[in-house]
Amino acid sequence: MGFAYRNGTLHAEQAPLDEIARRFGTPCYVYSRAAIEAAYAEFATALRGRTALICYSVKANSNLAVLALLARLGAGFDIVSGGELARVLAAGGDPGKTLFSGVGKSEAEIEFALRSGVRCLNVESEAELKRVATVARRAGKRAPVALRVNPDIDARSHPYISTGLRETKFGVAHADAERLYAQAVQSAELQVVGVGCHIGSLLVDPAPFVAAVERLAALADRLEAAGVHLQHIDLGGGVGIRYKDEPQQPIGAFVAGALAALGKRPQNVILDPGRSIVGNAGVLLTRVEYVKPGPARNFLVVDAAMNDLIRPPLYGAWHEVRAVREPESGAAAAVYDVVGPVCESGDFIAKDRRLKAREGDLLAVMSAGAYGMTMSSNYNSRPRPAEILVTSAEAQLVRSRETPEQLFALERIPG
Ligand code: LLP
Repeated sequence: MGFAYRNGTLHAEQAPLDEIARRFGTPCYVYSRAAIEAAYAEFATALRGRTALICYSVKANSNLAVLALLARLGAGFDIVSGGELARVLAAGGDPGKTLFSGVGKSEAEIEFALRSGVRCLNVESEAELKRVATVARRAGKRAPVALRVNPDIDARSHPYISTGLRETKFGVAHADAERLYAQAVQSAELQVVGVGCHIGSLLVDPAPFVAAVERLAALADRLEAAGVHLQHIDLGGGVGIRYKDEPQQPIGAFVAGALAALGKRPQNVILDPGRSIVGNAGVLLTRVEYVKPGPARNFLVVDAAMNDLIRPPLYGAWHEVRAVREPESGAAAAVYDVVGPVCESGDFIAKDRRLKAREGDLLAVMSAGAYGMTMSSNYNSRPRPAEILVTSAEAQLVRSRETPEQLFALERIPG
């Protein structure tokens, strides 16, 4: 969905990627509006018949155009910093549909969230519960809170992005939850509104996700019995996408499994998906600078690098690389490592790919809509790529390419 070949050229919707490269330069991120809308609709459809809120996880792709698009579709937002809250507000998102997660919220961030009127602070420790109460008292507000409970379930994902096990920093221990809720309901500054969990990202199997929901639902029942009333149960995000040969986006299966586990419980359902909304709705468009055959390996040196897309070196992540112009059948193929200009051996986009490519050719790094631009950096003083949002045949610039001067504009040479 979103990206396909037409007349031998890879298109984003009806817009040819070679034309986008000509207009906006490379490297650049290209997003398909229709693909984002379709993924959102899949969640909305699967949740039909249940009072639910989809809080898009801003960290996956926080471009204002993407946030504004999702806000217009009715989405709420899952944020982890004051910066993300500022983005949601700037994009016209509804703070009343926004959840603030994260283990390290500062006092300033908590105060900003309370003054903005966020729907809920997902509290991740006893110390944070105290801090939220203190800040709320000072601000003359009552803070809506939920505890993020660590269900101690193995998401069987990459260790850097599995968050539901006891040994990770996330959430309060399942065994402590009831005691902390009892504390929270005693506090005049806190209003308990829900409970949440998030066991990790890139889940391909619904089983651990559903197991976490069952644990959370059982906890909600015990809390209800103890007189702690919850308006919502937040099941987190984490639904995986197809990068290579994983099962096709299993959104429906995850949601159906979760809803079955919740049964007739009265609480509203909240989900906070990120990757599954935007991951396959974006590509990183890059141009081959050099073809560099070598004694041990062949390299395609492209103009995108680890600073633009860090997932391959950081997680060993696999992103499909496609030629924008379908190669002629006669052209010779070779096995290449696709690498960038950054001065690190770890700077690679893909390894061992059979490609037919020449200097100047365009390549599309697929499934780069999530955790691409948001994890980019300026390493090697590389200006970050432009971002383009495609709607049908129309390609619009939604973030300009940075200039070198912007990279050092905040720096001062002492006199
Ligand atoms: N909710 C919470 C509380 C989270 O921590 C996350 C992601 C999400 C929702 C959204 O998860 P998603 O639906 O996108 O899987 N940088 C990594 C992914 C880190 C995810 C962190 N938390 C990557 O590139 O794979």
